[in-house]
Amino acid sequence: MSELRILVGVAGYAVLPRMAAGQSTDQFAAGLGETMLSRSGKLVQELTPKATSTPNTYSGLFGLGRFPFHTDLAHWPVPPRYLLLRCIRGYADIPTMILDGRAIVSEIGAELMGRALVRPRRPQCGEVRMLRLRDSAGADEIIRWDAEYLKPASYVGELAFSSIQSIVREATATPAVMVNDGDVVVIDNWRMLHARPAVAPNRRDRKLQRVYLRSLV
Ligand SMILES: [Fe+2]
Repeated sequence: MSELRILVGVAGYAVLPRMAAGQSTDQFAAGLGETMLSRSGKLVQELTPKATSTPNTYSGLFGLGRFPFHTDLAHWPVPPRYLLLRCIRGYADIPTMILDGRAIVSEIGAELMGRALVRPRRPQCGEVRMLRLRDSAGADEIIRWDAEYLKPASYVGELAFSSIQSIVREATATPAVMVNDGDVVVIDNWRMLHARPAVAPNRRDRKLQRVYLRSLV
């Protein structure tokens, strides 16, 4: 098992300063594990702060304001396992904030969270598919959370939804700081929630690249 897989397995994420320096993000990501394409068919997605964007994106919903804690693609039946963020231009005062979903599960109760039915905010491919806030894939646990893209779909779903909202509001998150080109953060997207602080107008040149991975080598 690689050192990175052990690190991410234990902590749920890893900060790797300058690790991708001098390499393209697709090259670097390919060395970490099995990459996957986003829905747009792109391997590497550019993340830059935008004051406005299409309404079905976080930038469209929140602009330069803070992005709330979420799982990436929480409304997919199986969200991407890992999230790689590579810094092109970063700022110490705009860290990626990380929160351990397991702490939420232990507070709410694994059983209740496993019964909490939610649904995507919008139908996916013409169908509304019920999802659980805590799910499994083989031996692995999937914790999903997104107050925007998921909606409660049962009484237990509503109960868990409002509990998580207040836990997340009160929680102390860990900042993962990326400042230099080549700084990297790898997040277990089935376990950790992440968020972005608000971006000041003079920080709009912040630029990250994102790649999803199915597995780490
Ligand atoms: Fe995200």
